[in-house]
Amino acid sequence: MQSDFKSLKELHQYYAVHNSCKLKETATQPVYEIESPSSGILFIGEAPGRNEDLQGRPFVGTAGKFLDELLKTIDLKRDEVYVTNVVKYRPPNNREPNDEEKKACRVWLNSELLFIKPKVIVTLGRHALGKFIPDAHISVDHGESFTHSTGIPVFAMYHPAAALYNPNLKETMKEDFKKLQKFLSENEKKKDANTEKMAEIEDILKL
Ligand code: URA
Repeated sequence: MQSDFKSLKELHQYYAVHNSCKLKETATQPVYEIESPSSGILFIGEAPGRNEDLQGRPFVGTAGKFLDELLKTIDLKRDEVYVTNVVKYRPPNNREPNDEEKKACRVWLNSELLFIKPKVIVTLGRHALGKFIPDAHISVDHGESFTHSTGIPVFAMYHPAAALYNPNLKETMKEDFKKLQKFLSENEKKKDANTEKMAEIEDILKL
């Protein structure tokens, strides 16, 4: 894995060329952020949808608007957090990414994580949760926090698109965001320890 990138933009441009994900054959372009805010809070979704595919940026469609709304309820602005996806290309007809596609995008995501050194990872939906906490189940574990083997705290959240299809989940997500707010403020006190730990981490490469 190449790791000596000077910027996120450089990292993404490198992996946009050096990846074997077959989804690039049907997608318009890869989808990624190039700014990493200092909060160290990283949200990770599943895969880009149609609007993301057209604009090249994650969570800019309907699910993204709901995510922005949820962030606002806990006094966070979208540009204060980093947002990414398990796979960087839109799957045809917005189907779920398969294991082969997730595996092909893994080195890209791991390199991104090592560059950003997140203080907290918030997983959106089951694909992102499964990457970090394979034994967890979104329907049971949403609104709960975990510690990944690297020491990075992981907070499980439903995917905002799920709440758009199932309006009952909207309230659940709002409540889970309140739990996240509390969790973030508790974690803030421990953040220096996390950062130091992350600096030593090579385990993440095995994810
Ligand atoms: N859903 C995702 O998982 N990611 C996006 O970027 C948009 C919608």
